[in-house]
Amino acid sequence: MKCAFLAAGGFAVALAACDGDPTLPRREFLPDMVASVPYDSFAANPNTRDGKTLQLPPAGAIARGVTPFHYGSTLQEAERAGRELVSPIPPSLEAAARGQAAFMAYCSHCHGPAGLGDGPVIPRFPPPPSLVAEHARLLPDGRIFHVITRGQGLMPAHGGQVVPADRWKIVQHLRAMQRAAGPLPPHPPDAGTSPAPAGPADGGTP
Ligand code: HEC
Repeated sequence: MKCAFLAAGGFAVALAACDGDPTLPRREFLPDMVASVPYDSFAANPNTRDGKTLQLPPAGAIARGVTPFHYGSTLQEAERAGRELVSPIPPSLEAAARGQAAFMAYCSHCHGPAGLGDGPVIPRFPPPPSLVAEHARLLPDGRIFHVITRGQGLMPAHGGQVVPADRWKIVQHLRAMQRAAGPLPPHPPDAGTSPAPAGPADGGTP
């Protein structure tokens, strides 16, 4: 009985394979997932409220692997970041070395390899203040993290290029450069060590 059933089935398949016009598509036997049941990403969709298949994430959604940065671009926000943010990365030679590599890649063309404001695009780009001067030394770590993330005055934001961990490591490297530059004189006599020029978003005080 079973054999007869199989034989009949096989015969039907064989017939199906031979029938009809050879220029037309064949009959599909077990088509699996050839014809997709789900809606395509950009297809209209009668089941959603806005008629689209791809839906926007709900307000406040955080992308996987992204740490949100809850500080705006104003000076007040920069100062708040300076008071509140603490580096999650303990100081180490490895972290500072990584910070140096990131600094060379993302910052040195303006700030110069030693942070003196003499990178290769200067003076075609307005010179930035020295990062080993008193003003930069007195900026709290969180404030520097904010400058890197949001930018400041003429300096563009780098939050899109430099991942947060590397920003903190750059801060470690800046501190190492500042230590290497030696102690500051009690009253800096020349303009090179005076506070940074006040930009639109910078009140000039840390
Ligand atoms: C396109 C040139 C440019 C690049 C690239 C750049 N900066 Fe700047 N940076 C500036 C300028 C110009 C200022 C002065 C901004 C102002 O206040 O007007 C500045 C200011 C700063 C300050 C504040 C210094 C102070 O004393 O107030 C810090 C800290 C700083 N930059 C760090 C960095 C770091 C770290 C990077 C790399 C991630 C970087 N910058 C990349 C141009 C640049």
